[in-house]
Amino acid sequence: MQDNNRDGFSSRFGVIAAAAGSAIGLGNIWRFPYVLGENGGGAFFLLYLLFILFLGVPLMLTEMSIGRAGQRNTYGAFRFLAPKKKWYLIGIMGVVGAYMILSFYSAVAGWTLQYLYDAFANNFVGKDPVALKNVYNAFTSSTYMPVVWTLVFLFLTGLVVVAGIEKGIEKYTKILMPLLFLIIIILDIRAVTLDGASEGLRFLFHPDFSKLSSKVVLEALGQAFFSLSLGMGTIITYGSYINKKENLFTSAVSVSLADTAIAVLAGIAIFPAVFAFGIEPDAGPGLVFITLPNVFQQMPGGYFFSVLFFFLLVIAALTSSISLLEVIVAYFAEELNMSRLKATIVAFVSVSILGAMCALSFGPMKGVQIAGKTLFNLFDYISSNILLPLGGMLIVIFAGWVWSRKSISKEILGEEEKESFGFKLYMFIIKFIAPFAIALVFLNAIGLLKF
Ligand code: PHE
Repeated sequence: MQDNNRDGFSSRFGVIAAAAGSAIGLGNIWRFPYVLGENGGGAFFLLYLLFILFLGVPLMLTEMSIGRAGQRNTYGAFRFLAPKKKWYLIGIMGVVGAYMILSFYSAVAGWTLQYLYDAFANNFVGKDPVALKNVYNAFTSSTYMPVVWTLVFLFLTGLVVVAGIEKGIEKYTKILMPLLFLIIIILDIRAVTLDGASEGLRFLFHPDFSKLSSKVVLEALGQAFFSLSLGMGTIITYGSYINKKENLFTSAVSVSLADTAIAVLAGIAIFPAVFAFGIEPDAGPGLVFITLPNVFQQMPGGYFFSVLFFFLLVIAALTSSISLLEVIVAYFAEELNMSRLKATIVAFVSVSILGAMCALSFGPMKGVQIAGKTLFNLFDYISSNILLPLGGMLIVIFAGWVWSRKSISKEILGEEEKESFGFKLYMFIIKFIAPFAIALVFLNAIGLLKF
């Protein structure tokens, strides 16, 4: 049900900061490098950038418009904008996606907490690349601490969400994200001046098209959507809090730019180091955790920078996880008539169980596999490579073909009568390009269509 006293963001920077806070997170610094490394490097990178530009930005604009027009959680927004139709299923898919992502996300955020602790206790000092790899493996395959940290992280997430949108989210993001930006640039400078750095830069920036396959294309699309928090209602939910006076186009472009910049900068920090220290680029989810402690050891002030970096990474993860939890909580609170507190507690407890199982997926629950994947890998795979692309496709189809053009133009252009060229281009993309592009990538990858 609609609540007329919904919180809102207080300023322009508030909205952009919160949406950027959602977008920027482990997806940029942990997932992007590891997925890129597993998918051959430069060619993946190029595709990722193309997907951000031609599909990500328009989809973000669309989600913001739907959210602001709907003034509700994702499910409620579709019920409101298209009564008696089934589009609200997108909202349900979003809640399911949020559950899956939040589960493995908080497991990785838990590792980040452990690394923050280790950085603080100076536990990395004097360890060579092999020893650091062992540290990662030993920790992630252990039983108690990964689970404890996962729960600590989820608890922190819950605390912020209970506090409500404006006070909870906006405050943290404004100062800390620019700081994260800065510290990654410092890391970049150290990384590119390492011996052997050029090979890493080549891996990242030189597209080797022989590495392309239908799987790589889908992974690039999934990563683009994951990184921008698209396809599952997060941006729709946040859009519902955006002030009517705000220009959505500027917001969508700024958020996408900031997010992409952080991913690229993270790639520049990591790949030169991967090659300089003889780490395998396709080392998987541990890539960043194994690589970066090596870099910190090779730089002046490494102790200080490593503590600060892992602290900021925790915060970046937190501003993303609150946006995920918010999708679930807004749905429970507005559709199932729970109080915000009760909604948060129910969500916290249920996600904790799944999150703990993801945290154990590298140790005691490694053997528990479905379709050859641990729970961690399964959730990661289904959410990024199935739910987000599918959700994104349905959202653009809804906006392009079902929702009235007038309503979209009202959200994007305001009351202006005349459609600008940019708006026409946007409509063309969401009607004709995006749905087909996503469908092609998708069908091609699952083998229903071969080209
Ligand atoms: N975009 C976030 C990140 O890059 C993750 C996320 C995905 C958040 C989907 C919300 C929705 O870390």
